[in-house]
Amino acid sequence: MLGLKLPTDPRWVNIVEKNIDEILTDHAYCEQKAASTAISLIISFPEYPELVEEMIALSREEMGHFKMVHDKILKRGNTLGRYRKDEYAIQLLKFFPKGGNRTTQLVHRLLYAALIEARSCERFRLLSEQLQDNELADFYHKLMVSEAGHYSMFLKFARKYGKRDEVDKKWEDLLKYEAGIMKNLGKKETIHG
Ligand SMILES: [Fe+2]
Ligand SMILES: [Fe+2]
Repeated sequence: MLGLKLPTDPRWVNIVEKNIDEILTDHAYCEQKAASTAISLIISFPEYPELVEEMIALSREEMGHFKMVHDKILKRGNTLGRYRKDEYAIQLLKFFPKGGNRTTQLVHRLLYAALIEARSCERFRLLSEQLQDNELADFYHKLMVSEAGHYSMFLKFARKYGKRDEVDKKWEDLLKYEAGIMKNLGKKETIHG
C-alpha cells in the first residue's frame, strides 16, 4: 500500500534494539521536523486553504508525537540528545531539481513529505512487530497508523494540485530513486538510517 520498492532489512530492528535510547532521540527529531514541514508549507503556500487547514492540524499532531517520544525519553531517565542530521532526507532531496513554477515546487514538497511518511510508517511497522518490549511495540503500532494517514494525505494533495499523470510519473521515479538510497541504509539505529 505504501508503494515502497525496497523493504528494510529486518536485521535493522536488531541494531535498533541494542540502542533504544539512540533511536528515541532520532525519532523525536523526526516528529519535530514533520511539524516544522507542516508549518513551512503554510508559510510557502498560504493560497491553498484546504492545505493550510490540514497543515495546522498536522503540525499539532506531529508535536503531539514529539511530546509522546519526549515523555518516553524522560521516563527512561534520559534527556533529549542533541539534534542530528537525517542523511536519508538529505539524499532524498537531491532527487528534485531546483526551480520550476510554484505548482511544481508545491508538488515536489508534497511528494517528498509523502515518501518520508511512507518510509517512517514502514519502519514503525517493523518496530511494532519485532521489538521485544511490548509497551514500545504498541507505541510504534499507534504511530504507524498515523503516519500511514499522513502519507495518503500528502499524496492526495500532490495529485489534487498537480497534473495527475505527471504527479504519478514523478512519484514512481521518486520511489525508484529512494530504493537506490535504501540499498546503503538500514544499518544504523536511526529511524531512516
Ligand atoms: Fe508523526
Ligand atoms: Fe507524520
